Amino acid sequence: MTDTDDRAALVAAAWNAREAAICTYSGFAVGAALRDDQGRVWTGANVENASYTLGLCAERVAIFHALTHGGRGFREVVVATDTPTPTSPCGACRQILWEFAPQATVTMVARGGVSATVTVAELVPLAFDHGALARAR
Ligand code: THU
Repeated sequence: MTDTDDRAALVAAAWNAREAAICTYSGFAVGAALRDDQGRVWTGANVENASYTLGLCAERVAIFHALTHGGRGFREVVVATDTPTPTSPCGACRQILWEFAPQATVTMVARGGVSATVTVAELVPLAFDHGALARAR
């Protein structure tokens, strides 16, 4: 498989994952897919509930699932939304991506295949991380 095929498969996985979104309150369905360093693909969708703030974004559902099943070394993340323009991960998800997928690219895919790709590092300038904790000691 070429890199392009790999990316296409990850995009398809993200769209497929989106189908499982539980977005009862916002109606905004999001799918996410990431690939680990063994080539395994992990997916997630956003899950909402009546206590709004307890909902979780697709990106974090996907990455927490991956992490708790042995996935590591993520280099590629795809986020799919049925919107005219690509949807960027929220701040909380960026922080988690910076912690667990700092080398990754994030491809945001919208309706009709419109997409944008950025690095996690670009999404989290001046990041807070373990380095700050270490410097405080
Ligand atoms: N959401 C995601 O799942 N990922 C994002 O990148 C942005 C927002 C979800 C959270 C909530 O369920 C819904 O979209 C509306 O904010």
